[in-house]
Amino acid sequence: MKAVVYQEPFKVAVESVPDPTIERPTDVIVRITSSAICGSDLHMYEGRTAAEPGIVFGHENLGIVTEVGEAVTSIKKGDRVVMPFNVACGFCRNCLAGYTGFCLTVNPGFAGGAYGYVAMGPYRGGQAEYLRVPYADFNCLELPEGTEHETDFIMLADIFPTGYHGCELAEVSPGETVAVYGAGPVGLMAAYSALLRGASKVFVVDRVPERLAKAEEIGAVPINFEEGNPSEQIKEQAGGEGTDKGIDAVGYQAHGQKGGGEEPAIVLNALIETVRATGMLGVPGLYVPADPGAPNEEAKRGMLLVSIGKFFEKGLRMGVGQCNVKRYNRQLRDLIITGRAAPSFVVSHELPLDQAPNAYEKFDKRIEGYTKVVLHP
Ligand SMILES: NC(=O)c1ccc[n+]([C@@H]2O[C@H](COP(=O)([O-])OP(=O)(O)OC[C@H]3O[C@@H](n4cnc5c(N)ncnc54)[C@H](O)[C@@H]3O)[C@@H](O)[C@H]2O)c1
Ligand SMILES: [Zn+2]
Ligand SMILES: [Zn+2]
Repeated sequence: MKAVVYQEPFKVAVESVPDPTIERPTDVIVRITSSAICGSDLHMYEGRTAAEPGIVFGHENLGIVTEVGEAVTSIKKGDRVVMPFNVACGFCRNCLAGYTGFCLTVNPGFAGGAYGYVAMGPYRGGQAEYLRVPYADFNCLELPEGTEHETDFIMLADIFPTGYHGCELAEVSPGETVAVYGAGPVGLMAAYSALLRGASKVFVVDRVPERLAKAEEIGAVPINFEEGNPSEQIKEQAGGEGTDKGIDAVGYQAHGQKGGGEEPAIVLNALIETVRATGMLGVPGLYVPADPGAPNEEAKRGMLLVSIGKFFEKGLRMGVGQCNVKRYNRQLRDLIITGRAAPSFVVSHELPLDQAPNAYEKFDKRIEGYTKVVLHP
């Protein structure tokens, strides 16, 4: 089959790889109809991780079940399913408590597994024609038959639940004001989720015009950080006090103003400024324990200079980590089915698998409106 294979920094290729097979009786094989490219793939694409050449990318996957292991009970051939990016067992203590992003079974020595991702276990990605899904009863979410809502449902694999998770970590509640840093797919989904949860005003900070335009389209207030200190811009429009809640949807590859290069702590520090005393921060943006490409020695070891004194003084709280997709995907699916949510507004491009190399390049440069790419193998 054809698959998107990582070759070297800034280079992926569509290559022939062996078809996946049922390896355990709890597996199913899915013929992929949609697989999205994620900002998280870019960390590997840019050579900012230990990802080795040969890894097949793709952790946001949806398709039709073609083969079923003999111990699978709830999923059958022909079912249309979407898989959380987390690979999880369903029976370890973390899965049982709903922390499926920290499964203790699927990736020995590490809490958490994922498809097509460095350090997240031996699970091949789904930017390919077929995907093996382990513990399929737990990891498949059933979708209505047919092709309706395809680009809405593929958002359930990661970014819609992840944006929602940002709100959950920050405990966004009705009537509150929220500042979201990053208008990438995760930031846009966090803003969208905050509005779904009844926030009174949501600010979205970025500098990419097409992305800020999408934020405005859903009813958020766009803040361009190239036009001045973003927390000051927000405070001016939030009664001077700062917002109730804040969400970091940027992570460690955050940029300073005016081509100032990467500043890995800039968004965390901006949030500490932006959120009012006693507020909460939700951080779905990724931070890593080691980053060989970081701009300074401490950051190379995953240590950032964060204004912890200010954080303490303001009595802020913070929640971080991988999204436990399984915890939210069923409810978010039902919002799509009933017409209450349509997260596909973030999708800018739908392309065949063959065009993945070009799509990675453009998405990585955040040019030509490349906001969220869905590949259809
Ligand atoms: N926790 C999870 O489970 C989870 C899941 C998916 C993605 N992520 C992470 O979330 C982050 C965002 O993902 P994405 O797909 O939206 O990525 P993305 O790279 O497309 O978006 C990041 C956005 O942040 C903007 N940005 C850069 N510096 C900024 C700054 N100083 N202030 C405000 N905005 C700034 C960029 O212009 C870009 O639009 C990544 O770190 C990704 O790895 C985490
Ligand atoms: Zn993703
Ligand atoms: Zn588990």
